[in-house]
Amino acid sequence: MKKIVVLASGRGSNFQAIIDAISREEIPAICCGLVTDNPRAYAITRAERAGIPVYIVDFSSYPSKDAYEKALLAVLHELTADLYILAGYMRILGVGIVHDLSGRMMNIHPALLPAFPGLHAQRQALLYGVKVTGCTVHFVDDGVDSGPIIVQTCVPVFDHDDEDTLAKRILEEEHRCLPQAIRLFCEGRLMIEGRKVIILPEKRKSIPS
Ligand code: GRF
Repeated sequence: MKKIVVLASGRGSNFQAIIDAISREEIPAICCGLVTDNPRAYAITRAERAGIPVYIVDFSSYPSKDAYEKALLAVLHELTADLYILAGYMRILGVGIVHDLSGRMMNIHPALLPAFPGLHAQRQALLYGVKVTGCTVHFVDDGVDSGPIIVQTCVPVFDHDDEDTLAKRILEEEHRCLPQAIRLFCEGRLMIEGRKVIILPEKRKSIPS
């Protein structure tokens, strides 16, 4: 069993998808903590319901971004997880944390990267007029939404879409993609080769004779 930690800043529907996938035994992992920068995040309620410990590192109570990140890194180290998952964590992490957890931190983004990185990815897609967008799970590097891509899924954009309808359609796919990427990691099936993530074949289960 791998140990995973989720970082979320708000609603936490992706966090919930992870909790549900673990409870259905689709991910061979234990979630040993929710870390949030926002004491009002609904993700906290979800964690409490699932009996997952909550660690609040309240950004507003630190004098600087550096001080906040130092405290955050201390909490992440303390938790000694195999994998750290940014699931709607709304802050750009400093290079120190990213390097420290390189290859052990993934993020979900609501667009087909490298298109539309950063904030308001759904709005960016609508303004550009693309017919297809989607979601991407990627390892975190020191750029914005620029790390090696693990899983992507396409979602159609319709003429009558607004940001909400598009975000909702993408979110449904996020809830499938993120648990899938976590499962692959926990099964030891992800190999990073430069910019590329190779997905190794499933290991055969031995059948007792
Ligand atoms: C998702 O769309 C995710 O891709 C983005 O922020 C949103 C978080 O939603 N990074 P939720 O908090 O998981 O419901």
